[in-house]
Amino acid sequence: MRQKIVAGNWKMNTTLQEAQKLTAEVLGMAGEANSNIKIILCPPFPYLQTVKNQLGGSGIDVGAQNCNEHQSGAYTGEVSAQMLKSMEIPYVIIGHSERRQYFHEDGKLLAQKVDGALANNLKPIFCCGEPLDIREAGEHEELVKSQVEESLFHLNAEAMKKIVIAYEPVWAIGTGKTATTAQAQEMHEVIRKHLASKFGNDTANQIPILYGGSVKPDNAKELFACPDVDGGLVGGASLKSRDFVDIIKSA
Ligand code: PGA
Repeated sequence: MRQKIVAGNWKMNTTLQEAQKLTAEVLGMAGEANSNIKIILCPPFPYLQTVKNQLGGSGIDVGAQNCNEHQSGAYTGEVSAQMLKSMEIPYVIIGHSERRQYFHEDGKLLAQKVDGALANNLKPIFCCGEPLDIREAGEHEELVKSQVEESLFHLNAEAMKKIVIAYEPVWAIGTGKTATTAQAQEMHEVIRKHLASKFGNDTANQIPILYGGSVKPDNAKELFACPDVDGGLVGGASLKSRDFVDIIKSA
């Protein structure tokens, strides 16, 4: 059985006080959800330790939203995987489409970030997904396969088993426009088959592939019911504790 995961990506949102309130609310309601589901909160860097302390031994994990590819050095303003390891942060999102788009992160750089994260015992939540023009041109399968190839295919199967993948069609992120269950299942299957072609079926079948892009309480259940959708990476709806917990309950 693959691990079911629901991760909340808070992006560059919340003040410290709002982050504490949101964490407390999620903690308060998390008991409503099935305890087999791994819940991960990804707050902005400055609040990681606070949120982690607040979550304590609840079983809910924290994740960072990014890390630099270098271990340490003169990179003003950046945060390394080594730093996250020293804080015992278990997960890190790598290659979110907003990082690719606004910070020009390409597949080669993301491969370095994946390596840095793994070297520091962090589990990467590796994001892939196509923009609207690529979908309209019918080139989405090829693009997503190449994103996975460029940043993950240099790994061996043991390392690959530590990766969580998030398929997030860019046209569905923050737009309220969700992929249909058929579109989501189709792409998750494409990704899993591609992983199998490189790492074998056994490895490919163990890797959680999350769906992201306007996941809401009213669409989560049908998305998460797809055989190759193993949970979600939730942006906007993760900032509302009630919505986020209702999404977790759908998994
Ligand atoms: P959204 O964001 O749920 O607000 O669409 C998802 C994401 O970017 O991870």
